[in-house]
Amino acid sequence: MKQFKRTTVTSALPYANGPVHIGHLAGVYVPADIYVRYLRLKGEEVLFIGGSDEHGVPITIKARKEGVTPQDIVDRYHSLIKQSFEEFGISFDIYSRTTSATHHEMASEFFKTIEAKGGFIEQESEQYYDEEAGQFLADRYIMGTCPHCGNENAYGDQCEKCGTSLNPTDLIQPRSTISGSTPVMRKTKHWYLPLDRHEAWLREWILENHKEWKPNVYGQCKSWLDMGLQPRAVSRDLNWGIPVPVAGAEGKVLYVWFDAPIGYISNTKELLPDSWEKWWKDEDTRLVHFIGKDNIVFHCIVFPAMLKAEGSYILPDNVPANEFLNLEGDKISTSRNWAVWLHEYLADFPGKQDVLRYVLTANAPETKDNDFTWKDFQARNNNELVAIYGNFINRALVLTHKYFEGKVPAAGELTDYDRQTLDEFAGVKAEMERMLDNFRFRDAQKEAMNLARIGNKYLADTEPWKLAKTDMARVATIMNLSLQIAANLAIAFEPFLPFSSKKLRDMLHMDTFRWADLGKTDLLQPGTQLDSPELLFEKIEDAAIEAQIQKLLDTKKANELAAHKAEPVKANVPFEDFEKVDIRVGTVLDCRPVPKSKKLLQFRIADGLAERTICSGIAQYYPNPEELVGTQVCFIANFEPRKLMGITSEGMILSAVDADGKLVLVQPRAKVADGSCVG
Ligand code: MF3
Ligand code: ZN
Repeated sequence: MKQFKRTTVTSALPYANGPVHIGHLAGVYVPADIYVRYLRLKGEEVLFIGGSDEHGVPITIKARKEGVTPQDIVDRYHSLIKQSFEEFGISFDIYSRTTSATHHEMASEFFKTIEAKGGFIEQESEQYYDEEAGQFLADRYIMGTCPHCGNENAYGDQCEKCGTSLNPTDLIQPRSTISGSTPVMRKTKHWYLPLDRHEAWLREWILENHKEWKPNVYGQCKSWLDMGLQPRAVSRDLNWGIPVPVAGAEGKVLYVWFDAPIGYISNTKELLPDSWEKWWKDEDTRLVHFIGKDNIVFHCIVFPAMLKAEGSYILPDNVPANEFLNLEGDKISTSRNWAVWLHEYLADFPGKQDVLRYVLTANAPETKDNDFTWKDFQARNNNELVAIYGNFINRALVLTHKYFEGKVPAAGELTDYDRQTLDEFAGVKAEMERMLDNFRFRDAQKEAMNLARIGNKYLADTEPWKLAKTDMARVATIMNLSLQIAANLAIAFEPFLPFSSKKLRDMLHMDTFRWADLGKTDLLQPGTQLDSPELLFEKIEDAAIEAQIQKLLDTKKANELAAHKAEPVKANVPFEDFEKVDIRVGTVLDCRPVPKSKKLLQFRIADGLAERTICSGIAQYYPNPEELVGTQVCFIANFEPRKLMGITSEGMILSAVDADGKLVLVQPRAKVADGSCVG
């Protein structure tokens, strides 16, 4: 294994066209932050680079929809995203943006260098052009009928109804979403990165020399390479982005996936104008990219090919990509608002950044897609953070205050049981390192929690509160050891739970704080005065969790309603036919479930002339049928009587069928006389 002098850590630049959610945090930013904090604690030289990805077509579409400029959009979301990351303690050395002047210059120079070396090919192709708007159309700006399912609103790159990916020329009756006109084919010229020329060295570099990459990353690279690489266009006909910096390229910009990864370099230069190169060009620097699985090909194949073509840069040493996090069993989706947005989480759970960090790491999609559920969130908080870590710290501090006025007591003679306990946690450091060095953050965090378990067990087994009456010397030893474990926890948890770790360190007045100290039993000197204990974590009640689940149910409902297309209208009927149906209003006198039936409610209705019994199949939507008593319903009065579950039903009560199949009674809003005709 090569020894490196320093590490450059990057995390994918999120698109500045929406806020960030738990999927971003779990997949990329929390793992990257854990890794960086760990390296910093070890005293290594490390740089953590982040920023917003502010170019690309979706940003222009959003701007057009809102009637603002793309710059307005990215200004809004860049600040929001930056703030969310800060609030969650993602400890970037810089978080900048791809609309910065430094980046425009850096990306232009990068392109020019490759161009001058003959590293691109130029090709003409035919593309859709909107004559009314006077511009070429990106795939997303063309809509038409899907050739597979007939959806009239398929996009030029994908039909969202049947999920097929498309080319704009596949669409039947294409139309421009800018002007609505029918686009025409027009010749255009673009620059291509000939990946085929890079295939041989990429194969060897990844498939032979980087077998240690995570299986999901290695596997995806292998399947791309095995399919054979093709030239990829690195320019677009678009007016938002970095202009292609050569003569004769008016109206063309760099493709967003060409400029965005260069943003890592630009942001480093913005931070360190004089020394940025050692972080990108020195063979002793180790480059690590944290990304989600949808970014693998760009970071493992395309960007390395760009770096190689440019010629003066190092290549990534590892690309620990994660799989996806789902939310309550469904794919996270910005357009369907199926997400937990970080700024909303913080509004609902102020100060609980570490709880989310903990749960997202405990459930990190490291090897496969994983699911976030609010119940699991609550359980991990209450049963692990509160009951194990928080409880141990609190007991250690409270007892020290009770018996030793908050001063760390000196340890006396150790018993066999003390030694056994110390042995148990002596191995934690090496274990955690083995995991952290291999990007296995969930296992590493588990190991830290085990340390807290050891502490809890130690206190439970030694029972200092009982010994306090007889053997204060023994109590002193027990409390000393417990406090040493507490100090170890502050170190072990710092990469994962930085806010709680800081709080704990402050309470313990820990003066040294290094990874190298993990496992030591003399971190707190006897006589050190400790602060009075504050709870590290608090229980999360059912009501808070139910509110979150309700919020998601509301979203689901809103999506169903938005997607709902009403039934086609039936054939016309003459007025005389309509008149045959006698619809009336009546008051519910009694309403109860029909025994042994899941569906039926039995109504007793005052119909203005007499009373009648009607059964209606709405039981599952009205779990408290007695609440309907006194309200009015509409019913068909001359419906042929029928026997249902042995009861004669004299009519039919009217309900509307909602988008999700739910039945809702049709009820007059103002009271009318029983027996009133509806028509
Ligand atoms: N914006 C891209 C995404 O969210 C990631 C860009 S990463 C970079 O998928 F390499 F291009 F910076
Ligand atoms: Zn389709």
